[in-house]
Amino acid sequence: MKYPYKNEFSSNLVEWYHQEKRDLPWRRTNDPYKIWVSEVMLQQTRVDTVIPYYNRFLEKYPNLNSLAYAEQDELLKMWEGLGYYSRVRNLQSGVREVVEKYDSQVPSNRHDLSKLKGIGPYTAGAILSIAFNKPEHAVDGNVMRVLSRVLLIKEDIALPKTKKIFEEAVTELIDQKDPGAFNQGLMDLGAQICTPTSPKCLLCPVREYCMAFQEGNPDELPIKSKKTKTKRVKFNVFVAKDQDGKYLLEKRHEEGLLASMWQFPMVERNDKDTVLNTSATLEQDYHLKLVSAVEDPLLSFKHVFSHLVWEMDCYIVEVSNVDTQREKTGFYSLEEIMQLPMSVPMLNILNVLK
Ligand code: ADE
Repeated sequence: MKYPYKNEFSSNLVEWYHQEKRDLPWRRTNDPYKIWVSEVMLQQTRVDTVIPYYNRFLEKYPNLNSLAYAEQDELLKMWEGLGYYSRVRNLQSGVREVVEKYDSQVPSNRHDLSKLKGIGPYTAGAILSIAFNKPEHAVDGNVMRVLSRVLLIKEDIALPKTKKIFEEAVTELIDQKDPGAFNQGLMDLGAQICTPTSPKCLLCPVREYCMAFQEGNPDELPIKSKKTKTKRVKFNVFVAKDQDGKYLLEKRHEEGLLASMWQFPMVERNDKDTVLNTSATLEQDYHLKLVSAVEDPLLSFKHVFSHLVWEMDCYIVEVSNVDTQREKTGFYSLEEIMQLPMSVPMLNILNVLK
């Protein structure tokens, strides 16, 4: 690496971290299980959002053994609203593996950790450096942004192969005595100072050692090619109420988007479909009889996933409760529904019903 400030950068970053670090609940422990939970929650999710989930989750599952065999609906309920629900299912699989294969001791080397479900290079490095004080890289999008500026790296960070360049850079730069502070210092710098737009260079503890600051172009880095356009899908959602005031609910498939979460039935709608077409589909697919006319939508909204937008029109209908004959489908009272894990778009609808 042609970077002349290797030692200065590392020692200033570590010192700044110790002075200015955010007081976060997972920074008050070095229990590798708790660090693991925090890092999985923090993937794709903001710190402020994670804090209450982290506290609740660890109250309910304080150690590996309590999580390993938790019931799936209960577990998904603890994650409800955080999104990317496969994270928690993978976390449980990984935890179960540690209990069964490693006598409940989280492995402290990258080789074994990386074989656990849900643990990729970033999470492995975060656990190793924070919980075990090992000088291992933990590179995510924020770290790539910071280091693209510090080291003037102009590779496209949207390309998977680019990550390796940053992992090698961290391996060279990382503070050997305090790798956890180094990695978390990079994370805090990215969150608070070296932000995507308008980085606060005048407050930066390492600006003297930042090549992009010297060149005057931190705003122009990192280079990131545009991702492909997100797909849109339109659905009519039916809140179907039976004669006892219970609502029709189904559990989603156990793989794929929002796997195993519960929902009101959704019928995909093309532009030429009328609400009558889609309600007829509902009757057919769920073996129901509508006993009321379909009125105007109860609510309409969009829900944005990372790669996909759902456009939802939601209708209330009254149905006679013929045996639905579908697996994982049934009628539930509002109280029962509130115990089941539901995705954010379904929670929007549930809130209007309450
Ligand atoms: N983002 C990911 N990991 C983090 C950590 N340990 N502290 C703060 N933000 C983070």
